[in-house]
Amino acid sequence: MTRDRYAVAGNPVAHSRSPQIHALYAAQTGEPIVYERLLCPLDGFEATVRAFAAAGGKGCNITVPFKFEAFELAPHRSERAELAGAVNTLRFNEEGWFGDNTDGAGLVRDIERNAGLPLHGRRVLLLGAGGASAGVLGSLIAARPAQVVLANRTVAKADAIVQRHAQWAAEHGVALSASGLDATGGGFELLINGTAASLAGAAVPVPGGVLAPGALALDMMYGPAAAPFLAWARSQGALARDGLGMLVEQAAEAFEIWRGVAPDAAPVLAALRAEVG
Ligand code: ATR
Repeated sequence: MTRDRYAVAGNPVAHSRSPQIHALYAAQTGEPIVYERLLCPLDGFEATVRAFAAAGGKGCNITVPFKFEAFELAPHRSERAELAGAVNTLRFNEEGWFGDNTDGAGLVRDIERNAGLPLHGRRVLLLGAGGASAGVLGSLIAARPAQVVLANRTVAKADAIVQRHAQWAAEHGVALSASGLDATGGGFELLINGTAASLAGAAVPVPGGVLAPGALALDMMYGPAAAPFLAWARSQGALARDGLGMLVEQAAEAFEIWRGVAPDAAPVLAALRAEVG
């Protein structure tokens, strides 16, 4: 049986768990795919992915640092990719590449289904204004929380992202604003860390008093990179969650875009959780 080829393109890419996740989805659904790693030279993303498509590849996931370049290369894009300004999923169509971004949908699914927190009507604090936060804000808004505050050390960067999403937020009845890290207000039922503060060895950049009692505090990273944030969240009495569920759910969404079949992420998350801890 011939199998359709997919890959994750990035640099570095050796650490990526996407091949494992997609192999589990393929086994679960019976879809005939193989999924590999494409290490792209920093100046060779386009050439590497074009060669993969020419060799019969059907689509790619994109990881750091190429999500913005992938956006530029996709002539057809989803609305959520337009809002993110970044693409993490490419499908190679005859009429040109289609670019989508499944990170935000993966995050929302993880929060709502796996963590059991419906977002509708909630107050949400999103920390950071880099690619991680910009990639998920549109989907967060689409889940219709009451409020999203985007807080960043450099307020101008948060402002720019908020302006890009202002109309989207208005259409969904969401109060969206930008702030500095020390002026967010309080009472947030969900805190999402999209900063690289823990990678830089810095403390969590907001005081614990911003959280409502019983809040969910989620880091978009997982493994050792998320550990300081998770420890802090627990010390504040919050429910602590890493980004592993988001990773598995964004992959499920990409799998569905490619194959038209929605896999069940729950057993795959359980399998990865047993490995990652
Ligand atoms: P990514 O694409 O992974 O989001 P990025 O674009 O480098 O990475 O963004 C990193 C984010 O972490 C930024 O919001 C950054 O704040 P600035 O925009 O002010 O630079 C934030 N960040 C990094 N180190 C931080 C720290 N020690 N305290 C607070 N925020 C930090």
